Amino acid sequence: MIKFPHDFFWGAATAAHQVEGNNVNSDWWEWEKWVGLKETSGLACRHYELYKQDFDLAQALGHNAHRFSIEWSRIEPEEGKFSKKELEHYREVILSLKERNIEPVVTLHHFTNPLWFANLGGWQNNLAHKYFLRYVERVVDALADQVRFWVTINEPMVYVYHSYILGAWPPQEKSFLKAKSVTDNLVRSHIYKKKNLATVSVSIAKNLQAFEPCDTTLRNKFATYLRERSFNFAFLNKLARHKALDFIGINYYTRSLVAAQGWHLKNLLLDTGESKQPPLKKNSLGWDIYPQGLYNLLLKLKRYNLPVFILENGICTGDDNLRWDFMYEHLRNLGLAMAEGVRVLGYIYWSLIDNFEWDKGFGPRFGLIEVDYNTYKRTVRESARKFSEVCKTGYLGNGTNK
Ligand code: FCB
Repeated sequence: MIKFPHDFFWGAATAAHQVEGNNVNSDWWEWEKWVGLKETSGLACRHYELYKQDFDLAQALGHNAHRFSIEWSRIEPEEGKFSKKELEHYREVILSLKERNIEPVVTLHHFTNPLWFANLGGWQNNLAHKYFLRYVERVVDALADQVRFWVTINEPMVYVYHSYILGAWPPQEKSFLKAKSVTDNLVRSHIYKKKNLATVSVSIAKNLQAFEPCDTTLRNKFATYLRERSFNFAFLNKLARHKALDFIGINYYTRSLVAAQGWHLKNLLLDTGESKQPPLKKNSLGWDIYPQGLYNLLLKLKRYNLPVFILENGICTGDDNLRWDFMYEHLRNLGLAMAEGVRVLGYIYWSLIDNFEWDKGFGPRFGLIEVDYNTYKRTVRESARKFSEVCKTGYLGNGTNK
């Protein structure tokens, strides 16, 4: 049995574009139509209207934290024109959480951009950080009195990888050079932000992957080292050097098996393969379930000497028992890392409700709460009830939550 600290944060996350619906001024909205995505975000989960109902469920499940994102394209639908009405909406969202004794954890950028910003070159524009800062200042002026935990940028390297290396997400570029300049601009944006948000606790949500070589060849060992450095730690290291992190926000889902087919940088950084070991269980998108990876990575974070906040960890599956196994094993590994001295502030599951999984549409079911996309009815899953016991008691492996 594992006992978590009494002031531990427990909760679940969402992101604006994935749940709100009708994000008509964002680059993703435009892109969905432009590429003819089979399932477009449309009304998503109608969370923009139904958020109070969703927060009632979170409260009943014993959550004392909730992570969500503010949609830049709602706040600033046209360049330099800020919407008071939308700022007021997010203030109400935050106050609704606080009324329910749920700590808001607010993300300022979660993959989507205003269309006007994308049309100016998006994150490739060397003034990107200035545009972003102007938006952040508005948000901070309106909301910082109510929010302690801020996340400037969600998964910068996942964004760079999908949008500028793989070419899978808007703006569908495939260029290491562009990826590098976008990364630099994202780093700059965060550092600026930190100055602005001096009195609160600020971080990013850094996706970490458990990179492992698929065999013991020198090439794969070297490629693993390179990926761990560039994908997992380079961004964090830059921010840490600037003293621009108050805690380390991490998102953890899976491992990635390194199988470089050659010595070119492209091979070393991108090629993946299968393990010679028996396969691990997978989520419905085919990602390996690898809870020990969380433990290993948490121990590596000790060197920053900052508290860690798990801002996303979750599984998409049609098998809710597998969801609870996944959560249980990740929480157990989290407990083990904490027993080794890793300071952790809280655990936020991805996601509170089923939602729009980017280019994959509505198929993957990550929610603690099921969403019926015909009626928008919410149904609490059994795994959510088991997690709820952990949230309410602070004990894992106690009573029915085994
Ligand atoms: C993370 C994203 C989040 C969600 C999960 C499944 O990379 O931050 O929006 O899509 O993956």
